[in-house]
Amino acid sequence: MNIIFMGPPGAGKGTQAAVIVKELGIPHISTGDAFRLAIKQETPIGVKAKEFIDQGLLVPDDVTNGIVEERLAQPDCKKGFLLDGFPRTLAQAEALDKMLAAMERKLDHVINLKVDLNKLLVRITGRRICKTCGATYHIEFNPPKQEGVCDIDGGELYQRADDNEESVGTRLNEYHTKTEAPLIAYYGDQKLLREIDGDQSIDAVSKDIVSLLRG
Ligand code: AP5
Ligand code: MG
Repeated sequence: MNIIFMGPPGAGKGTQAAVIVKELGIPHISTGDAFRLAIKQETPIGVKAKEFIDQGLLVPDDVTNGIVEERLAQPDCKKGFLLDGFPRTLAQAEALDKMLAAMERKLDHVINLKVDLNKLLVRITGRRICKTCGATYHIEFNPPKQEGVCDIDGGELYQRADDNEESVGTRLNEYHTKTEAPLIAYYGDQKLLREIDGDQSIDAVSKDIVSLLRG
């Protein structure tokens, strides 16, 4: 199954992707995670992406498309993939269509996680991530058993550099203008768009997504 998760910053794309890829046995491709790894490793892509991510701006399409094209060519994507946070512009969506056509593949579902704007800031500023395995927590809504420590591997939890009020405003604006408006229309026209109420408990959202995919 070839799936895209769309939704504003903090909607729960990463949280739900972790559940769904386990269920379906397909790889989770998050461009945000790929950029954060490149930044940590100080690669040329990481250095370039950091300039934009720190300000809450989208990384240029050519850089982003290159990362996805390389990842989709890996053998584990043959059984399907879950794209989280890509595409985010019309140009990226068109580039993805070309990549898939060249592989004789097509998209099955574009899942749009809908969450009330006023809930997003609380989700984002309370998010904590494991430094070693990347597991996502929330200090109030999904806390680890021991504060600051990952339940899975005991790793230290940290806060993302772009998870501050200033950058969130810019990220939301980027989402509404460059992602939501053009891509809802694009995938709506292709009859691929599915809406999920992301404003429920984490488990309830997962159940809705699983039943949609099994549909
Ligand atoms: P990216 O990493 O993709 O960030 P984002 O889109 O801003 O989304 P988030 O990761 O913030 O939110 P999420 O929806 O994954 O929520 P999560 O599950 O963590 O991108 C970062 C940056 O990289 C971009 O700003 C851009 O600069 C660049 N970039 C990435 N892709 C790009 C692209 N294609 N083109 C150009 N630039 C790109 O959940 C959030 C919190 O809420 C967590 O604490 C979680 O525990 C909690 N939570 C989740 N679900 C629930 C629930 N149901 N109830 C209560 N709490 C919940
Ligand atoms: Mg995410």
